[in-house]
Amino acid sequence: MTACEVDLIEKLVSLCKQRGFVYPSSEIYGGLNAVYDFGPLGVRLRRNVRDLWWRAMVDLRDDVDGIETAVLMNPQVWVASGHVQSFSDPMVDCTGRCKKRWRADHLEAERIARGKPPDAPGCPECGGALTPARQFNLMFKTFIGSVEDQASQLWLRPETAQGMFVNFANVLNSTRRRIPFGIAQMGKGFRNEISPGNFIFRLREFDLLEMEWFCKPGTDLEWHEYWCNERFRWHIEQLGIRRANLRLRPHEKDELSHYSTATSDIEYLFPFGWGELEGIADRTDYDLTTHIKQSGRDLSYFDSETNERYVPYVVEPALGLERTLITLLVDAYDEEEVRGEKRVVLHLHPDNAPVQVAVLPLSKKAELREPARKIEHDLRRSFATEYDETQSIGRRYRRHDEIGTPLAVTVDFDTLNDHAVTIRERDGMTQVRVPIDGLEHALRDQLDQSRKRARDRAGAS
Ligand code: GAP
Repeated sequence: MTACEVDLIEKLVSLCKQRGFVYPSSEIYGGLNAVYDFGPLGVRLRRNVRDLWWRAMVDLRDDVDGIETAVLMNPQVWVASGHVQSFSDPMVDCTGRCKKRWRADHLEAERIARGKPPDAPGCPECGGALTPARQFNLMFKTFIGSVEDQASQLWLRPETAQGMFVNFANVLNSTRRRIPFGIAQMGKGFRNEISPGNFIFRLREFDLLEMEWFCKPGTDLEWHEYWCNERFRWHIEQLGIRRANLRLRPHEKDELSHYSTATSDIEYLFPFGWGELEGIADRTDYDLTTHIKQSGRDLSYFDSETNERYVPYVVEPALGLERTLITLLVDAYDEEEVRGEKRVVLHLHPDNAPVQVAVLPLSKKAELREPARKIEHDLRRSFATEYDETQSIGRRYRRHDEIGTPLAVTVDFDTLNDHAVTIRERDGMTQVRVPIDGLEHALRDQLDQSRKRARDRAGAS
């Protein structure tokens, strides 16, 4: 990793905190490793990504239903799913000076990150001897009720998927769906990661956006390919992530999760190297079969057209919300020189941008403040807006460039006579004067152009 690449993550950490995207969790007590809070802009960005995902995966489809299941589940779920037995990472401990704990399969990357040869012996930090690898289960334990014993122990879910498997028959019965169809949900997942890090890339508490696609055995590989293509396209066309920084990588056999026969990752080229953004797994009939065995319930499907009964196979696209956020920020971040000054700009797709239209009176004087406030209020129904009157107009433009606001509307003293305002757009910094009467229409046009620029930038087809 070069200094400039390390720099980018550091710059984003600082921008995110300053501008209200991401704060360290419980910071006044020194924080909590790999847990973050989201500020006013972060919340808007999260909601935009969630909405875009839900719209593409549920609302615009005829064959997917959404559900929401609880974080706490009967512990038998995790025994049946194999997570108690197999959801673990190999871990080694340093017996030397630093006593750090490492993922055995991340040692080379950790050495490289510290500027050491990948095959250097011992601990990546201090070179001390390492213990043999031991398996470390990633699920967080907790207890239900007033007694903390083995019988009352639960796990915080490490994935939302199991909530959809154990509700397969419920959804089937209440919707009368025919296979193939999908069940989608978004929600919290918890993993006690051994080596979290890279800001919000690997967290201990994060949001998952998952869909289980139930299909006939034998059609799963075809559906796997279909979902790989759909999801790859979505990142470029809907999120505006640049195609050149994305790749689809099939897993090697020894990388596959305990439940999967085929998985492909959509990976992004982060400053610290290629990293998984979304996984698309062929889970076969593993989960439904194991829940049939463990629960004794019938989770098979009767196909009345062919008179066949079978346990459906499942293809699962699973995306992390915070991973998507860091991807969007890295991909959108740019520094330019404008008239001898540095301009930081986030080239966010206008459908992701936390603020779409900023309304800026040239001065705080009541004669401008009042019409500007009214304009902002009127625009709220149609756009994500923000009213901002602090500091000079130049500074306000820069501040909105830095958070990715595609359009700014400036109300100046001429507005009082000509009933017109200036729209300034983020990417080319061009300005046009439009009458207030036609402002909403003009903003819609400009946002369409901004969408087109975002698609071109991403390399959408
Ligand atoms: N149900 C399948 C599943 O959970 P996964 O590949 O382990 O699959 C899905 O996780 C996605 O969740 C990943 O592609 C990544 O985007 C995100 N993710 C996984 N672990 C994460 C972590 N510790 N912190 C943040 N995001 C994570």
